Amino acid sequence: MQVICSIPDLRKLRASLSGTFGLVPTMGALHEGHLSLVQHARKECDQVGVSIFVNPSQFGANEDLDRYPRNTENDLQVLEPLGVDLVWIPALATVYPPHYQTWVTVDEVARGLEGRRRPGHFRGVATVVAKLFNLFQPDRAYFGQKDAQQVVVVKRMVADLNFPVQVVVCPTVRAPDGLALSSRNSYLNAEERRAATVLHRALTSAAALYGSGERGTNRLCAAMTAVLDTEPLARAEYVSAADPETLEEADRLADGVLLSLAVKIGNVRLIDNILIPSGESHAARH
Ligand code: PAJ
Repeated sequence: MQVICSIPDLRKLRASLSGTFGLVPTMGALHEGHLSLVQHARKECDQVGVSIFVNPSQFGANEDLDRYPRNTENDLQVLEPLGVDLVWIPALATVYPPHYQTWVTVDEVARGLEGRRRPGHFRGVATVVAKLFNLFQPDRAYFGQKDAQQVVVVKRMVADLNFPVQVVVCPTVRAPDGLALSSRNSYLNAEERRAATVLHRALTSAAALYGSGERGTNRLCAAMTAVLDTEPLARAEYVSAADPETLEEADRLADGVLLSLAVKIGNVRLIDNILIPSGESHAARH
């Protein structure tokens, strides 16, 4: 496993690697969710690269950039046994040198849900992912369903800008009690951690309603809100039942639904979602 920081080193090493290349972009503080992406890439590609970069341009002014967990030593330790070929850990000025001023903006699918509450977030994500695609020239890039809108935005960008890369979406990895793994879970105290299970309970309750035939988005959202209301530590920022591809929130959804929510548990903002049908490319291909 080669660990490199500069762009010349990355280009040189990448050029020396033959066969299919799989990229797993991350912001570090790696957990089993990230590692599942690496494992999928390892199975499907000859070479696997991981990037670790806490991307400032996707954090809002009042967000948690400064306290976002960073633990490079542990990240390298957990990646080593997975058979990763290359890890790129660039400095801030490597990705955004002085006078940097070029941005990738995806329009409609980046507007609602997270985009509405985190203005500029997806501009930052799309820009850094475009840069990673240019630098790594991957054949496949692995993303988690955990960040459902990110997947839609990245897929849109890949199609619109003709990146020759296949976006592979991997299922959300959860703790046994249903909480989706997230680097931000480390902010939760014990009581908040217990309360945080309400996100998945809200989603599964709406998913069950959809399974029993309900197609009205108001009813699906009301089911999520009703469960969230049972948890005093939880404050919903939004609940949504949207079209999985356009992310539009029509009154009724006939062909599948993306149930998603953002909830504050104390001061910690968590997101989660359930996609019906699951639609993940892995599920479809295996
Ligand atoms: P980060 O939050 O570090 O996540 C890296 C990848 O891991 C993303 O594709 C995310 O969806 C996936 N992931 C996180 N938790 C997961 C879980 N519980 N199960 C499955 N996959 C999970 O997402 C980002 O970084 C950044 O926006 C990035 C794409 C790296 C651009 O900066």
